[in-house]
This record gives sequence, C-alpha cells and structure tokens, in this order.
Amino acid sequence: MLPRESCLAGKRMKAVLSGAGALAEREPTIRVEGVSKEFAQNGSSLPVLEDVDFYATDGEFVSIVGPSGCGKSTLLNIIAGLDEPSSGAIYLNGQRAERRLGVVGYMQQKDLLLPWRSVLDNAILGLELQGVAKKAARSSALALMERFGLKGFENEYPFALSGGMRQRASFLRTVLADQEVFLLDEPFGSLDALNRAQMQEWLLGLWESLGKTIVLVTHDVDEAIFLSDRVYVMTARPGRPKLVERVALPRPRTLDMVTQDPFVSLKAALLASIHEESRLAQEDIAR
Ligand SMILES: Nc1ncnc2c1ncn2[C@@H]1O[C@H](COP(=O)(O)OP(=O)(O)OP(=O)(O)O)[C@@H](O)[C@H]1O
Ligand SMILES: [Mg+2]
Repeated sequence: MLPRESCLAGKRMKAVLSGAGALAEREPTIRVEGVSKEFAQNGSSLPVLEDVDFYATDGEFVSIVGPSGCGKSTLLNIIAGLDEPSSGAIYLNGQRAERRLGVVGYMQQKDLLLPWRSVLDNAILGLELQGVAKKAARSSALALMERFGLKGFENEYPFALSGGMRQRASFLRTVLADQEVFLLDEPFGSLDALNRAQMQEWLLGLWESLGKTIVLVTHDVDEAIFLSDRVYVMTARPGRPKLVERVALPRPRTLDMVTQDPFVSLKAALLASIHEESRLAQEDIAR
C-alpha cells in the first residue's frame, strides 16, 4: 500500500543516512550499476537503457542531458522505484535498494497537479501519502509559500496559475516530502527563457540552503552547466552515459560566468558530444 510503504521507505532512508558507518558514508547517495531496460513493443523488445552506470554523491547536483527518447525519464523512474530495471541494480547509500518507492523525492516531467485540489492541498499530497495529518501538513506548506513565490495563491486551483507557478507548486510538493534526494525531470521545460533563468537561480538558492542531492534531467546545456557539479551526456536510445564532465566553476554561480571560460569551453565539449550523437543516430536511421 503506497502511503504506508512511502512512510516506511522514508524512515528507512533516514536510518541509512543517520546510522551509516564510515564505509557507507563514502558510498554515493545514489548508485546505478549496469542498469539495462527493455520495453515490450509490438511483440518485440525495445532496448531503452543499456548497461547504465551513474552516481550522485551526498549534496551533489548532477544533470543528465541527451537526445529525446534516450531513456532519461525511464532512468529516473527506475531510480525512484516506479519501474524496475531488466538487469542491473540501484543502490542508495551503499545499500541495494529493492523497495525504494517513496524514498526519493521525484518531480516527474509533467507537473501532475490535481486539478480538483487547491495549490495548498496539491502541495501537501506527498506528506499526506506519508501519513502526516492534514492540519500539520498544511501548516508546513503554508510556511514555505512565500519562498516558492506562491503566497496569496494558496487557495487557487492549478488552472489559475502561470506555468512557472505550476512548476513551483509541483516542486514545493516534492520538497515538502523532505527526502534526501530530489529527481527533477525537466522541471522548467514549459517556461520561457526569462522565467527559466529566474527559476534556475531560485533553484540554486534553494539547493544551496537545503543541502540535498539533486539529479536534474534537462535538454538545456547552459542550464545543466550553470546548476551542476557534474553533467552526464547520454547516447541515443538505447541510452547510456557517453561523457561525464565535472563543472569546474566556483560557487556561488553568477550569470556573468556563462560568457567566459571554463563555462564556454565546457559547453562546446558537451554540445560536440550531443551533436555527434544526433549525427550517429541519423546515420543509423538512414542505414
Ligand atoms: N512504459 C513504457 N512502455 C513502452 N515503452 C516505453 C515506456 N516508457 C517509455 N518507453 C519508451 O522508451 C523510450 C525512452 O522513453 P523516455 O521517456 O525515457 O525518454 P526521454 O529520454 O525521457 O525522452 P524526452 O527527452 O523526450 O523526455 C521511448 O522510446 C519510449 O517510447
Ligand atoms: Mg523524458
């Protein structure tokens, strides 16, 4: 049953985090080892992920970029426990995590706000699923409304919000569930450039103050570099990491960095890798 499992899973994660020995503390928060995934499609098998190795350490901000359809959302679904790999394993804090649904916070590609619930009641959904009483959950959410730019909109319904507000409401729901890890699947995908830049700075500020581990999927290379400690580039389907780069930019990050090295040379390297991947994929289709 999801609510109970979710609650227990959250406690398990906290126990692992607080009670970990010296060895476990050196383990990455998330480790994906040799994960492959195939889906059945039209009577045959569609390989989507192939032998994926990936990790994120405690408090690290990691981005994943790659062509559409290469399996990025599938990988996040598997880490979150919404789906299982065909082979390979997921480790959380060094422990093989067979039952991990509800252990990590997950903001899926679609904002998934419930149209019949107010902003406030959408925000507390994760807490309710963990078994937190509605009154307590609401007061936790209300305390964060201003920080998330939603003050005054608590009782509005999702249709009355701008795209950015919907994203923030959805993100508030993820943050309130208070997991150690957040998986964010294109959280700013539907925003225009100006709103997107504001949201990126806002997310950076939030990440710096919360100290959580974040895995972000994005199509935007600038966004990936600006926010991250490391960036993974995935191959076309079946997806696997083809390049991993550390972002050697000091923090706090500022917007003037994006026009200077090392930002510019790293962007060139990532784009070259992505373009090579698109070219190889085109050649495959032509063959
Ligand atoms: N439940 C499913 N059943 C069958 N096929 C699926 C399922 N989920 C995803 N796929 C297929 O797996 C492939 C990868 O999908 P996925 O959503 O992970 O890609 P993505 O990298 O997130 O793409 P995008 O950047 O467009 O969001 C696609 O070909 C998709 O059709
Ligand atoms: Mg996706």
